[in-house]
Amino acid sequence: MKQDFNVAVVGATGMVGQRFLTLLAHHPWFHIKALAASARSAGKRYEDAVGARWAMTTPIPDAVRDLVVLDAVADAEAIAAQVDFIFCAVDMKKDEIRALEERYAKLECPVISNNSAHRGTPDVPMIVPEINAAHAEVIPFQRKRLGTKRGFIAVKSNCSLQSYVPALHPLMADFGVKCALACTYQAISGAGKTFETWPEIVDNVIPYIGGEEEKSEQEPLKIWGSIQAGQIVPASSPAITTQCLRVPVSDGHMAAVFVSFEKKPTREEILERWASFSGEPQRLGLPSAPKQFLHYFEENDRPQTRLDRNLENGMAVSIGRLREDSQYDYKFVCLSHNTLRGAAGGAVLMAELLAAKGYLD
Ligand SMILES: NC(=O)c1ccc[n+]([C@@H]2O[C@H](COP(=O)([O-])OP(=O)(O)OC[C@H]3O[C@@H](n4cnc5c(N)ncnc54)[C@H](OP(=O)(O)O)[C@@H]3O)[C@@H](O)[C@H]2O)c1
Repeated sequence: MKQDFNVAVVGATGMVGQRFLTLLAHHPWFHIKALAASARSAGKRYEDAVGARWAMTTPIPDAVRDLVVLDAVADAEAIAAQVDFIFCAVDMKKDEIRALEERYAKLECPVISNNSAHRGTPDVPMIVPEINAAHAEVIPFQRKRLGTKRGFIAVKSNCSLQSYVPALHPLMADFGVKCALACTYQAISGAGKTFETWPEIVDNVIPYIGGEEEKSEQEPLKIWGSIQAGQIVPASSPAITTQCLRVPVSDGHMAAVFVSFEKKPTREEILERWASFSGEPQRLGLPSAPKQFLHYFEENDRPQTRLDRNLENGMAVSIGRLREDSQYDYKFVCLSHNTLRGAAGGAVLMAELLAAKGYLD
């Protein structure tokens, strides 16, 4: 199995792009060869281009500090020619992102994307590696549509659902999740912001995140969908309703979840399913896979964002406060790191999965 890949990070100066750089600095399989962003950053040394926007707690990795940033659009051919695939996280209009990602794919350069533009495209897999690794099997159909041999697009799902979908998934087969309600409490890094760049969020809660509730309700159904005639057909259930709030937290999206089942499990059965759950990343021993994907805390005051978001390098999901509810069967809270598991880390794990399965050869 090939384990040596040259990669580019497109959107390298952004919040998610910075996460990619810190995760890839010492990655055993993936080596950064090129960085790209907008024309505003192109031609500058990375350190100069990112400037005061560097928001990670560790310094800019030495390997990228002096790399000259390329223009993601104008230099696409040159970038595609020197790497095996790209990670992409850019803030552009949806139709521009769709066109940009298809352009790289058609240059025979696979795209591992954090953007939402292609999440609804039926032959583009949206993979949470522990849950729907098999959706990679749609890639040959997408290649046929695009007329490519290697090139394709695979996307990460939205960061908001990254805690409650993994928590509900192990309960579906045996107990049938009928409906779920999730209120999310989302960190400001999810908007590409820090407390310095967004002082209005200090001591405040903003009850609206554009487009987030639609994504949080619809994307799970694609993740739980099935491949039919070369396309992913979304599942028709469970019914999910959400409210997504922005809270004054730097990193980490919390969710308060209520759920009802076709066949109500006992509390012990739920805890057992969470404790024993693992997926392809654990079976394959992928470098970024958490050993234990779902961690349950018995303490009443856990998980806490600041204490628990970095569990297993920010790749695990923390769950707590499971108890019966008077209107739904159960309620619980769960937490995941939005720029690690919910964005760059989840994309790196997806790339590892696709590499292990030969899609990036
Ligand atoms: N933050 C999260 O937790 C999160 C989670 C999941 C998904 N996402 C998605 O990931 C993407 C990036 O989010 P972010 O938070 O990292 O945004 P961000 O911090 O605003 O960064 C945006 C990046 O896009 C680049 N860019 C902007 N306009 C461009 C253009 N015309 N051509 C090429 N590059 C351009 C910027 O380059 P310059 O510096 O040169 O302007 C920068 O590198 C978005 O689609 C977002 O929805 C974010």
